[in-house]
Amino acid sequence: MALGGFARAAMDYTQHVNVFQGTTNGGNRFPGVIAAPFAMVKLGPDVQKGNTDAYSGYLPEGNVNGFSLMHESGTGGAPKYGVVSQMPVTGNVTNPLSDLSQPRASADQGSIGYYKSSLASGVAVELAATEHAGLLQYTFPSGSTQSIVVDVSHVLPSFRGLGWEQHYSGGNFSFFSDGHYEGFGTYNNGWNLSPDWNVYFCGRFNQKPTVSKTFLGTGPTPASYDTTSFVSGTQRLGGVFVFSESNITSRVGISYVSTTKACQNLGDEIPESRNLQELVENAKSKWNSDVFSKIQVSSTNDTELQLLYSSLLGMFMIPSNLSGENPGWSSSEPYYSDIFTFWDTHRCHTSLFHIVEPVAYEEFIRALIDIWRHDGFMPDARSSNFNGRVQGGSNADNVLADAYVKGVRGAINWEDGYSAMLTDAEKVPPNNNDPKAPDSSTKEGRGALPDWLKYGWITPKFTRAVSRAVEYSTNDFGLYQVAKGLGKKADAEKYLNRSRNWRHHWNPNATSNGHSGFVVPRQANGSFAPQDPLSCGGCYWGDAYYEDNPWVYSLNALHDIATLKKYSSGDSKFVDRVDKLWDLKIFNAGNEPSFTSPYLYNFVKGEQYRSVERSRQIGRLYNSGPGGLPGNSDAGAMESNILWQMIGLWPMTGQTTFLILSPWFPSMTINLSNGKTLEITTKGGNKDTAFYVQSLKVNGEPWTKSWVTWEDIFANGGTMDFVLGESAAEWNTGELPPSPASGDQ
Ligand SMILES: *[C@@H]1O[C@H](CO)[C@@H](O)[C@H](O)[C@H]1NC(C)=O
Ligand SMILES: *[C@@H]1O[C@H](CO)[C@@H](O)[C@H](O)[C@H]1NC(C)=O
Ligand SMILES: *[C@@H]1O[C@H](CO)[C@@H](O)[C@H](O)[C@H]1NC(C)=O
Ligand SMILES: *[C@@H]1O[C@H](CO)[C@@H](O)[C@H](O)[C@H]1NC(C)=O
Ligand SMILES: *[C@@H]1O[C@H](CO)[C@@H](O)[C@H](O)[C@H]1NC(C)=O
Ligand SMILES: *[C@@H]1O[C@H](CO)[C@@H](O)[C@H](O)[C@H]1NC(C)=O
Ligand SMILES: *[C@@H]1O[C@H](CO)[C@@H](O)[C@H](O)[C@H]1NC(C)=O
Ligand SMILES: *[C@@H]1O[C@H](CO)[C@@H](O)[C@H](O)[C@H]1NC(C)=O
Ligand SMILES: *[C@@H]1O[C@H](CO)[C@@H](O)[C@H](O)[C@H]1NC(C)=O
Repeated sequence: MALGGFARAAMDYTQHVNVFQGTTNGGNRFPGVIAAPFAMVKLGPDVQKGNTDAYSGYLPEGNVNGFSLMHESGTGGAPKYGVVSQMPVTGNVTNPLSDLSQPRASADQGSIGYYKSSLASGVAVELAATEHAGLLQYTFPSGSTQSIVVDVSHVLPSFRGLGWEQHYSGGNFSFFSDGHYEGFGTYNNGWNLSPDWNVYFCGRFNQKPTVSKTFLGTGPTPASYDTTSFVSGTQRLGGVFVFSESNITSRVGISYVSTTKACQNLGDEIPESRNLQELVENAKSKWNSDVFSKIQVSSTNDTELQLLYSSLLGMFMIPSNLSGENPGWSSSEPYYSDIFTFWDTHRCHTSLFHIVEPVAYEEFIRALIDIWRHDGFMPDARSSNFNGRVQGGSNADNVLADAYVKGVRGAINWEDGYSAMLTDAEKVPPNNNDPKAPDSSTKEGRGALPDWLKYGWITPKFTRAVSRAVEYSTNDFGLYQVAKGLGKKADAEKYLNRSRNWRHHWNPNATSNGHSGFVVPRQANGSFAPQDPLSCGGCYWGDAYYEDNPWVYSLNALHDIATLKKYSSGDSKFVDRVDKLWDLKIFNAGNEPSFTSPYLYNFVKGEQYRSVERSRQIGRLYNSGPGGLPGNSDAGAMESNILWQMIGLWPMTGQTTFLILSPWFPSMTINLSNGKTLEITTKGGNKDTAFYVQSLKVNGEPWTKSWVTWEDIFANGGTMDFVLGESAAEWNTGELPPSPASGDQ
């Protein structure tokens, strides 16, 4: 087998990772230290440059105003966290509330488990971490006074003016006789409009400070100092430390639960004996074993290897595994938060998360169900342990359905899982009176459910009515899948029927560029509102379509494609409709609603090659550099997309179907659970100029379908052997991919 050349056991894949991938050009990815996939601590610099929002804290230019332990990665909306921060200062700190920020003397450096900033002040800051603690190693220029300011009031600001900025609302800071300090900060708001939440911290230095004092005040200068402790109302709060030696190691543990737990996390994970290099080695080994070694390819081209492994890194930064750190309720179930958001990730991220990290994935599904048990609803997004926001449907339903149909069982209570989905489908969430969309809840669940239940469509009384209707249809399809599996026949029929409701928005007389039939706003009396299919108005919270236009949403009933083809007037019009997304410059590879559109050609016999052409077009938009993502990383959604292109498959979330594209590498092995593997080979072609499928064997058998199922290649492993060539061949003459909601057609 071609795989013979791999040195598997000792392979260090981290050499192929650029931690700065997707950090600029709107990618918003976090480049700092994440010691393990899903770690709570994400330790990195917080940078300010004018009024630019730094979503993950990092910006390549601008001044560093702190190094903090908590961040999100790759999100839009507004910056979240940037808390538990400290800043090195050369010289005596006369005013800890003044601007202590510093430009960098040179570009930051980073690799898996390690980060370094060299500040203009001459201080070098090196970072390493574990899951719940961070280590900051400062080297001050000799001869300077060495000070460190811990600012509890520090958060990442937002300058967008959308009401999603974070606020500091109080804290506590104390020194203890054994030399450690501890306390907590309280914060609120952010994109999910969170009420007050706390994070606790516990810090130690490798040497005794010559001066330790706490400060308190509303600024511009502290109103008071103390040498023991302070509790604040809303006043800014923190500590100033002065040291006599130039090399200072600062260790900080955090917790959502208590200062005791923060100190315990620090003691367990970074005892004084552990040095930076050890932590870096541990992080590399963890990422290698848990993530990178799961996908091995035959390529020796470093450009391609970097894109592969840097993208894998980007996929597993969030959610955060907060098991044991849940401040909301005590439970023996796992707990995960920092979901940002399922609207982004359900399309192709969660299905790859399942394949690469099956153990964590099962825990993650259990956590979603436990959030429903205790908070009442599963999240569409969640940060600072609070659900919010919901952009479209209740897309956790799609994620649970996907896990269910692919046989994810383990310790998941699927009866409860289904009940959680039923809550989404039947219970109107209380309105959180969001100024951006005051009609219904943006916190969780399906705010427009009253119309959905009453009419089977959503009237303009509700914001985002059309895009929500399309997503609610998919959500109901998810309920159908799980109800069917659990033997709930009547429910299955009911939700299959409801999954067709997107059709109620289809106005066959809406026309655009030679095509008739688009999803449009629909009134209570059943009449369609006039709608230009090329426009989504403002395309935002208050409009009829969220972040994409009617052309895109009209192709998004992915469980009902046969109907869509019929509504589109047949195969050739359907193919042309997909083509028009490019001809009319509608398609945006950086935005999730159209993620699956490029591969819908697979639903027409003989046309799979067009999906391959689109796949290659999309591949060219990515690279492993800082500007290498075509949009926000969106919690790894963007990175999972390019990984599927490399694999040569596309998942149809909520179904067992994978559409076949064209793999990039002569060979790829994906490790599945229990030692099984999926081996994918290509012969006779190459990624860039000879990528058309000529023929395919699946598990050794000739294959003429443009799709495979979970059972075919993942459940027990499998092989896919492609022959590729320079021109399109009509190889996909077999049965079309399933269209499970179209049985009534
Ligand atoms: C900094 O403060 C220390 C202690 O208060 C003092 O001895 C020293 O002279 C100060 N240094 C400067 C540069 O002001
Ligand atoms: C603040 O910390 C001190 C010292 O640990 C503790 O005694 C006090 O109860 C804390 N205050 C609050 C409001 O938690
Ligand atoms: C301080 O750190 C630097 C850089 O890590 C190292 O070269 C130097 O030997 C250290 N000095 C002391 C006194 O530990
Ligand atoms: C490596 O891959 C890149 C990106 O696919 C390609 O542009 C380049 O030509 C390849 N280099 C070699 C030596 O094959
Ligand atoms: C999640 O965190 C808990 C507590 O630290 C740990 O026991 C569990 O193994 C973690 N899950 C994974 C997949 O690492
Ligand atoms: C399907 O839903 C429609 C409303 O959208 C309803 O009128 C019809 O009775 C339902 N059919 C079944 C079989 O449930
Ligand atoms: C579409 O237009 C035709 C012809 O004008 C008309 O008969 C039909 O009722 C219209 N359909 C809808 C749903 O408006
Ligand atoms: C249906 O309702 C809309 C909005 O209220 C109204 O403009 C329209 O005239 C109504 N059409 C009919 C046929 O009643
Ligand atoms: C992946 O599979 C290969 C081949 O079966 C095996 O050598 C390797 O140890 C596996 N890696 C992991 C992380 O399971």
